[in-house]
Amino acid sequence: MKDEGYRVLVVDDDLEMCGLLSDILKGEGFSAIATHDSLEASKILKKEEFDILITDLKMKGLKGLDLLEETRRVSPLTPVIIITAFGTIESAIQAMKMGAYDYITKPFQMDELILTVRKALENRFLKKEVVRLKKEVEARYHFHQLIGKSASMQNIYDLIERIRDSSINVFITGESGTGKELAAKAIHYSGIRKGGPFIAVNCAAIPETLLESELFGYKKGAFTDAKSDKKGLIFEADEGTLFLDEITEMPPTLQAKLLRALEEREVRPLGDTNSYPIDLRIIATSNCDIGSSIQQGRFREDLYYRLKVIDIDMPALRERREDIPILVQHFIQKFSKELKKAVSTVSGDALKILLNYPWPGNVRELENIIQRAITLSRHEVISPEDLPASIIQKSDEKLFEKATEEKFTLDQLEKEYIRRVLIETGGNKSKAAERLGLDRKTLYRKLEEM
Ligand SMILES: Nc1ncnc2c1ncn2[C@@H]1O[C@H](COP(=O)(O)OP(=O)(O)OP(=O)(O)O)[C@@H](O)[C@H]1O
Ligand SMILES: [Mg+2]
Repeated sequence: MKDEGYRVLVVDDDLEMCGLLSDILKGEGFSAIATHDSLEASKILKKEEFDILITDLKMKGLKGLDLLEETRRVSPLTPVIIITAFGTIESAIQAMKMGAYDYITKPFQMDELILTVRKALENRFLKKEVVRLKKEVEARYHFHQLIGKSASMQNIYDLIERIRDSSINVFITGESGTGKELAAKAIHYSGIRKGGPFIAVNCAAIPETLLESELFGYKKGAFTDAKSDKKGLIFEADEGTLFLDEITEMPPTLQAKLLRALEEREVRPLGDTNSYPIDLRIIATSNCDIGSSIQQGRFREDLYYRLKVIDIDMPALRERREDIPILVQHFIQKFSKELKKAVSTVSGDALKILLNYPWPGNVRELENIIQRAITLSRHEVISPEDLPASIIQKSDEKLFEKATEEKFTLDQLEKEYIRRVLIETGGNKSKAAERLGLDRKTLYRKLEEM
């Protein structure tokens, strides 16, 4: 570590000592400021930041302990070294309790002082590093509600950061439960449009006949049931984001109308003779193969290109298994709090099962399974018996793959299979023996050999 430039404040009411300390520190390359007036020191501390404070304990005016307190308050990571005369050790210990880094007793060797200063600086460096890493971890593992530390999720956070302050349309694809809606909300709520509305429309959930009037609105009398004017959802989303979920379910006539509205940046409600300007960002999603929808003529290619100025493909959970442990921990915290349970973590065996399962329902399925496990669990730790049998069986399907890959002997394969059946039966040996087609005695014997 280079000493150059580290800022040290020295406070001692003994003028000679003050000057000596300052000279020596400067000689070692530190940038030292020395004062014999503790009130002056307190003023300096409030104005400037120091890498280290060295202060005498017993002084006229403010005492060393007062300066220590002050430093802890204004600059908590700055270490404080106390100088104390022989015979006042109790006060030095008191200072340590209040958070001083170390103390040295007079008379002392200058080498001793310099060594203590260097150690204190290193300590400060490490503390700052921990704070930095913590911040980095928080920033990297989360983005709004999205959780994930995998490279693919990090790329998504980066991309969202780059596009959130523009109004370009975004098309999000990905299997069900991969977080498409969460990503859309992250774009809206982190960007310049966050003050405006986020209006979500599920094109698959609204009957075709209603979708048009829901989206575009209508004038009173436009059709039999139109008893008064109604603002469409597109207007409601003005200056905000319109989230069109499962857009491939939109009927072709509406697709054409939407395209026109986007091109002209205005909308005409049903039965209205006027058009009204709109300022929208559209985020659309699809969880099916959009390419084949276009090829089969079910989705307009020109609309697709309008919508997918930027496209984001949410990765399936099985393609980013490294995210499973932090997602599990996140959902445990969430549901423990919600369900007022004391579950705090997951056992190694249970985590293994969760890591091996292929997760066809992605994060949503994982969330449901953790919620279920916490509801069922009577312990602080989720164990395999808190997981549904279907998950355990599915993760067992991987056994042969693993055995082939890792070149298991028949004996190893048998042992691993017995272990998994035991997990599945929640450790019930009679049930396990029955499933394995063994009598209990044979199973016990095999277990002893494991
Ligand atoms: N990366 C993630 N971090 C935390 N929670 C997530 C993540 N991805 C999804 N979830 C959770 O999983 C559930 C499903 O997410 P979301 O509704 O965004 O998925 P989707 O891709 O829109 O699914 P669908 O296609 O079925 O509509 C939500 O409860 C959401 O909170
Ligand atoms: Mg969705």
